[in-house]
Amino acid sequence: MASISLVFLILSEACMASTQSIGKIYPGFQGSQMNWIDRNGMFLLSNNSNFAFGFSPTQDVTLYLLVIIHMATLDVIWTANRGSPVANSDKFFFDEDGTVSLHKGGSSIWGPDTSGKRVSAIELQDSGNLVLLGNDSSVIWQSFSHPTNTLISNQEFQEGMKLVSDPGANNLTYVLEIKSGDMILSAGFRTPQPYWSMKNDIDKTINKDGGVVTLASLNANSWRFYDSNEVLLWQFLFADANDANATWIAVVGNDGFISFLNLDDGGSASPTKIPSDPCSRPEPCGAYYVCSGNNVCQCPSALSSSPNCKTGIVSSCGSSKGSPELVSAGSGLNYVALGFVPPSSKTSLEGCKSSCRDNCSCLAMFFQNSTGNCFLFDQIGSFQDTGKGSSFVTYIKVSSDSNNGGTESTTKGFPFVAVIVVATVPVILGLLFVAFRYYRNKKRMMEEGKVREILDAELNLDENDKMVSTAIKVALWCAQEDMYLRPSMSKVVQMLEGLCPVPQPSISSPLSFRLSSSFFKSTSEEGTSSGPSDSNSNANLSSVQLSGPR
Ligand SMILES: *[C@@H]1O[C@H](CO)[C@@H](O)[C@H](O)[C@H]1NC(C)=O
Ligand SMILES: *[C@@H]1O[C@H](CO)[C@@H](O)[C@H](O)[C@H]1NC(C)=O
Ligand SMILES: *[C@@H]1O[C@H](CO)[C@@H](O)[C@H](O)[C@H]1NC(C)=O
Ligand SMILES: *[C@@H]1O[C@H](CO)[C@@H](O)[C@H](O)[C@H]1NC(C)=O
Ligand SMILES: *[C@@H]1O[C@H](CO)[C@@H](O)[C@H](O)[C@H]1NC(C)=O
Ligand SMILES: *[C@@H]1O[C@H](CO)[C@@H](O)[C@H](O)[C@H]1NC(C)=O
Repeated sequence: MASISLVFLILSEACMASTQSIGKIYPGFQGSQMNWIDRNGMFLLSNNSNFAFGFSPTQDVTLYLLVIIHMATLDVIWTANRGSPVANSDKFFFDEDGTVSLHKGGSSIWGPDTSGKRVSAIELQDSGNLVLLGNDSSVIWQSFSHPTNTLISNQEFQEGMKLVSDPGANNLTYVLEIKSGDMILSAGFRTPQPYWSMKNDIDKTINKDGGVVTLASLNANSWRFYDSNEVLLWQFLFADANDANATWIAVVGNDGFISFLNLDDGGSASPTKIPSDPCSRPEPCGAYYVCSGNNVCQCPSALSSSPNCKTGIVSSCGSSKGSPELVSAGSGLNYVALGFVPPSSKTSLEGCKSSCRDNCSCLAMFFQNSTGNCFLFDQIGSFQDTGKGSSFVTYIKVSSDSNNGGTESTTKGFPFVAVIVVATVPVILGLLFVAFRYYRNKKRMMEEGKVREILDAELNLDENDKMVSTAIKVALWCAQEDMYLRPSMSKVVQMLEGLCPVPQPSISSPLSFRLSSSFFKSTSEEGTSSGPSDSNSNANLSSVQLSGPR
């Protein structure tokens, strides 16, 4: 059974195989990937054989895109059905009634907009331009006017056209277009964020000042920008003159770069890229990471305690765990879109912070004190650390759940003070309390001093526990009326930890009720006081003296 169906498949392919068309195809043409398997899926060749139109497999070799490719390099310069590949039994139709369409599973998924005009021939020109011709040989539609992510030498890129990258990490795309007399590259966030423009690029040469760009094309080794009268305004050299005769493509990649590739040398090792600094793209690192140097990525300290540098906020204005709060990401950070978008408002730092806090779509904000410019963003890529500093302060919104540190009220010195206070106060109060009770009981009983007697009866402690008796002895030392007998805090800690023995405390001196006041006095003088042992003749005690400074 298996061998019979295999034979049938081979026979049917042989029967259906057609000769490859050169230059043009005419109505009645029906192309499917299966028919053209012996032509690498390509059914129309340009006269010079440099370019071909047909089916090209994707990474999944059972799925195909309808493309124009450069034959020598197999670089795809145009795609009909991006994001919607077809199977190997799907068909491309050029019907007798002059319509052109690509079918997937029986229904049309792509067709050129011919404004109802009948197409009488499809031609692949030597330039790589796919042209649909009317019966008077007029151009009804051409691929050069509907670019995907690639611009090729001599293709005119006009205002209104867009190059859109394939989606990259986080489904982010990058978009190149002519807008407001400039060539602009933006990240396709919810609200698009421009991050490069030719007007701001210092590597261009200016031919004529003050014009309005409406057209651009790759000619020889430069990208040229023209006004509506085709007067040359700017040029951007992407290769030296040796490569001027080659065919070039400019590709907007899903890495956020525009890369210039030479189709005649099979792609040079290090193509010219725009922008030239890898950190000048919107997402060279993950969102919220800081990009510095040659693409080094680091999570800012405000988010370093949360896993993967996440803010815990999934979508702006959406539900998120915990309430959002604004935390400082410090000063000195830059963001690539800042040079291209207008400020949301002019205000003070506090005004800027509250406008972000009160606006659920604001996820990050930048404030420039010198100008009062306040920038709010509803999505954010990577921050940029140029190493030259920045005039902006940066705040980001985090879910209070996900953030364990770096909140607004936290300053650098604060944790140390807090730790010392939190750790010391209970120790001091505890020691005072124990000492006071002991004394009272003692008196009573892009002198043999049974521990049980002096402890609170409700405390469930083992009177033979060494730690209990140690604590009491230390407490008694701390409560000595003669402040020179009292140990330093470092020695108290050592005695409590069992690092040095605790001598029998002197109980001869009566504990005064000035206990607390003199105690605090002694702790404040602790730095100059030399501790319990110095004036004490007890040999045990002098042996616990610290060797170093306290
Ligand atoms: C291809 O060559 C044929 C025959 O030389 C010519 O008639 C036709 O115009 C050429 N087509 C293109 C697109 O150059
Ligand atoms: C060419 O097409 C137009 C409509 O697209 C039609 O009116 C005209 O008759 C056609 N001419 C010829 C010679 O077929
Ligand atoms: C990716 O973005 C496109 C539009 O830009 C959207 O239609 C699509 O659903 C997104 N895919 C995912 C997986 O988010
Ligand atoms: C480019 O082509 C022209 C004309 O074909 C030729 O004269 C010139 O030498 C070529 N330049 C280079 C660098 O190959
Ligand atoms: C809210 O924030 C978004 C950006 O996150 C901004 O575009 C919009 O203008 C802000 N709305 C107000 C009223 O400030
Ligand atoms: C911020 O700007 C205000 C007003 O322009 C100025 O008074 C203040 O000194 C500035 N603060 C800093 C830290 O530069």
